Amino acid sequence: MGLTVIILAAGRGKRMVSDLPKVLHPVGGQPMLQRVVDSARRLEADQIIVVHGNGGDHVQAHLPDLPVTWVKQESQLGTGHAVEQALPHCRDDDQVLILYADVPLISIETLQRLLNASASSGVGLVVVKVPDPTGFGRIIRNELGNIVEIVEHRDATDLQLGIQEINTGIMSASAAHLKQWLPQLTTGNQQHEYYLTDIVAMAVRDELPVGGVLASSAEEVQGVNNRWQLAQLERYYQREIAKRLCFEGVTVADPYRLDVRGTIDIAQDVFLDVNIVLEGRVVIGRGCQIGAGVCLRDVELGDGVVVYPHSVVEGATIEAGCRLGPFARIRPGTILRAGSRVGNFTELKKATVGASSKVNHLSYVGDAVIGEGVNIGAGTITCNYDGVNKFQTVIEDGAFIGSNTSLVAPVVVGCGATIGAGSTVTQDAPSDTLTVARAKQQVIEGWERPVKRADAVVDSSDKV
Ligand code: UD1
Ligand code: CA
Repeated sequence: MGLTVIILAAGRGKRMVSDLPKVLHPVGGQPMLQRVVDSARRLEADQIIVVHGNGGDHVQAHLPDLPVTWVKQESQLGTGHAVEQALPHCRDDDQVLILYADVPLISIETLQRLLNASASSGVGLVVVKVPDPTGFGRIIRNELGNIVEIVEHRDATDLQLGIQEINTGIMSASAAHLKQWLPQLTTGNQQHEYYLTDIVAMAVRDELPVGGVLASSAEEVQGVNNRWQLAQLERYYQREIAKRLCFEGVTVADPYRLDVRGTIDIAQDVFLDVNIVLEGRVVIGRGCQIGAGVCLRDVELGDGVVVYPHSVVEGATIEAGCRLGPFARIRPGTILRAGSRVGNFTELKKATVGASSKVNHLSYVGDAVIGEGVNIGAGTITCNYDGVNKFQTVIEDGAFIGSNTSLVAPVVVGCGATIGAGSTVTQDAPSDTLTVARAKQQVIEGWERPVKRADAVVDSSDKV
């Protein structure tokens, strides 16, 4: 018996008011559909089928690598009709799990409980009790407490409308049963749709048990119909991450001001100040301190790194004990070796900064290899680009680059060399020497300041 997961994604999502199909809107930086597919994969599904409709090609084009079978539902005639479209791909002895692409945070733990419960029953459902059940299908139980039917909000009697236990839409049944039941659905309801939910009454009619599994939270089964719900789900997701981090030994200054949009691995005794955004794959070593307003994307930080506020770091490896910022911009391909220091308003790109070296103020260092114990003065620029090609700058161990130096690549500054401030260096600077490349200072004796002339042009804007 295999597991087939059918993901319903054919809804138009009109209420999102968006050119982007609803299921491509991200939660935690990942498209909702992608999240649901990942959950199916974690359940080790043998087959994942996505039922798409209008805009489906768009979805497929955005996520071409999804390991799924795409099935088109030509017109949206209801959830039952949608599932039916996928059945030709299912073997009779498959267990089928039905997920919604717009319910992105369903937990593996709940799904596992559903699969376990439904293996022995006709139909398994995930249900939840909510304070305001408006719009949802209501769970109807008999006097023994067994589920006997689902009644949609629009078809419910006044008495049934009072029921707070609702259908989350997530269900499981065997493919054989679905193949038997779905062709029997009719559209005799308020919305003239083929309701998947009607299979519950069919299972009861066929004397098969219906198992209800309670969701562990209302949020994990919360669907997204509009951007307000999307925003609330995003906040829930972020709060759960902040909570987990706290229990793992991370100090989160404000759990409401941390945003994780990728995968993270954060060691203990890390301090995360407010308004931090973590994207892609971010690894933060023990005891790091991340300042306010810092953005890290695809970054690995060794132990004890301090990132001062408002620094933006992407595609970089920062070794233990480095300090960077405030206002540092570290671009992809950068490696900061242990204990190095990058200060304010400094931009680094494809640069390796050796251990204990410093680039402290207002510099641009790109396509460069900097040795150990190097000091780069304020306002130093590696001129790495001639408008067509990029060239490399090499600065060897112990070199000292004076402030406001332009290093015109390709160029090598040798070990222990000193470059005088304000130099434009176009040729290699030999080791252990002083290289100065700037106009010589002159003193003009007897020079006098100009005086106001009677015939000078008067500009009215000079008068205040
Ligand atoms: C459905 C359930 C309801 C449940 C609610 C939970 C039915 C009849 N009702 O109602 O009991 O409380 O979900 O949110 O199943 N879809 C398709 N093709 C279609 C119609 C829908 O793929 O023809 C997809 C949608 O994209 C969506 C999902 O199925 O992902 C649910 O559809 P929706 O219209 O939102 O169902 P509800 O009326 O909210
Ligand atoms: Ca819905």
